[in-house]
Amino acid sequence: MDLMEYLDSTQKQVDRMIDRFFGDEFLELGKASAHLLLAGGKRLRPAVVMLAADAVKRGSSDEVMPAALALELTHSFTLIHDDIMDSDAFRRGVPTVHTKWDEPTAILAGDVLYARAFEFISIAEASDNAKVRAISMLAAACVEICNGQHMDMSFEKRNDVTVGEYLEMVSKKTGALYAASAGIGSILAGGNAVKTHALYHYGLYTGMAFQIQDDLIDIMTTPEKSGKDRASDIREGKQTLITLKAKEKGLDLSEYRRELTDKEIDELIERLASLGVIREVRDTALELVEKGKEIVSILPDSEAKRLLIDIGDYFVTRGY
Ligand code: IPE
Ligand code: IPE
Ligand code: MG
Ligand code: MG
Ligand code: MG
Repeated sequence: MDLMEYLDSTQKQVDRMIDRFFGDEFLELGKASAHLLLAGGKRLRPAVVMLAADAVKRGSSDEVMPAALALELTHSFTLIHDDIMDSDAFRRGVPTVHTKWDEPTAILAGDVLYARAFEFISIAEASDNAKVRAISMLAAACVEICNGQHMDMSFEKRNDVTVGEYLEMVSKKTGALYAASAGIGSILAGGNAVKTHALYHYGLYTGMAFQIQDDLIDIMTTPEKSGKDRASDIREGKQTLITLKAKEKGLDLSEYRRELTDKEIDELIERLASLGVIREVRDTALELVEKGKEIVSILPDSEAKRLLIDIGDYFVTRGY
């Protein structure tokens, strides 16, 4: 099966589960917590959970479906809170929860999904021992995400952030959840420590690359395609690899820290491209994917392993 077909089918599976468990909420807070989930999304973290499970034990992805859903719930919780922090109005092509409702409701809606993630992971079909380890890995990832998000916000107030600090920040805010997705798939499928370690680190490095690509998408992609506010990172004064590389070449993006017109964004892209910033940023993402592939090569060959490797390539080619 080709990766796009695979992602299409897993997306449908996840969508069906979401409809079943979140489709008929009647309390206002329930509706607010279901809003983003029902708006769609690529469902990539569930796909990583399932592929990691199948790579360890063929056919085990059915048993880990509740855990795949748990990872999507955790992801959606972080998105609802992230949109408050980043003052964004659109996500997945619909108004964000805090704009459709209000900030207190969005905070609570995120909290509900955060708690329900642990509820779902605890009903996966696996030994209690494996489930405790998986739950512990998810909890640790959530702490990492908070630390990564805190770094991301604190960077807005600084102008001396290094590439090393940026990479640490993305490894926490985004790498940690992909790492946990692959690690949890492995643990629940009965993977030994060596396989779980390899899959965890594959998720970590490709997840960092995913965030670098997301940073490119922020400026390069129209809201119609991304479903999100365009140039939000530039407006908020985020310190991304794009900002840092531009600065190295004498272009200070802080002068763009305001609402930008499409024309201004297009001109900025031109300047970044001619300075070689876009290419250098892409190269860093590609290197991280290669690092991930090297680590995961210790797994025995299988269709799931091949698709997992393809997903890493997709992370840095998707989007614009
Ligand atoms: C967006 O994640 C947040 C980041 C970590 C960059 P996705 O790009 O996976 O968003 P959805 O789930 O498809 O909406
Ligand atoms: C968010 O990164 C990562 C999370 C942990 C939610 P971004 O702030 O770049 O994600 P988007 O672009 O809003 O989806
Ligand atoms: Mg954001
Ligand atoms: Mg953010
Ligand atoms: Mg972004």
